[in-house]
Amino acid sequence: PSLAVFVSGSGSNFKAIHAAILEGKIKAEIAAVVSDVPSCGGVQYAQACGIPTLTYPIPKKGGSEGLNVEQIVEALKVKHSVDYVILAGYLKLIPSSLVAAYPRAMLNIHPGLLPSFGGKGMYGERVHKAVVASGVRFTGPSVHFVDEEFDTGAILAQRVVPVYPTDTAKDVAARVLKQEHVVYPEAVAALVDGRITWRDDGIPIMWSAH
Ligand code: GRF
Repeated sequence: PSLAVFVSGSGSNFKAIHAAILEGKIKAEIAAVVSDVPSCGGVQYAQACGIPTLTYPIPKKGGSEGLNVEQIVEALKVKHSVDYVILAGYLKLIPSSLVAAYPRAMLNIHPGLLPSFGGKGMYGERVHKAVVASGVRFTGPSVHFVDEEFDTGAILAQRVVPVYPTDTAKDVAARVLKQEHVVYPEAVAALVDGRITWRDDGIPIMWSAH
């Protein structure tokens, strides 16, 4: 199967997924990396790996490169024959036409235990600041299917880490990010292996490999 990975920043989740592919843990290949930030770390890493990169959406300040939503759907579906879309530190909302093009085939990772600490504007450091401020004693990453809103799609996998009252947001961010790099490759492997079934009420079940 073929993946497109969407990034906006350092791309550490993209790198973890790429490493899992190289180790044979994810039986797929990355056909393209898509980003709204052409200069970000994730794009630079993709280019160093010889993976095609696409700019989407068209940058606000114009510029020649960049695709609109119709062009990106066409590029993924036709040019790159992408089977699954993996959002990995991608911060823009996915338009409904792109969501609709990948039913039960588009994942995102959020650095909090959805449905808590999620939604529009809740990303990166902001999530961990809210977690510290709330006094909760556990947090962790959530992998979920993508729908038309931020962080509201069906949850597929989560991992839990402790939050200590003495933690800073940076302490929590590092503890969560470590687990992101475990749970996301596992979830992507299950997706491409077809090891996900769906409950009648729309909740996905991830089955282990062995
Ligand atoms: C991480 O907090 C991740 O959970 C969120 O974006 C942040 C950066 O991800 N989706 P990455 O390092 O660019 O993969």
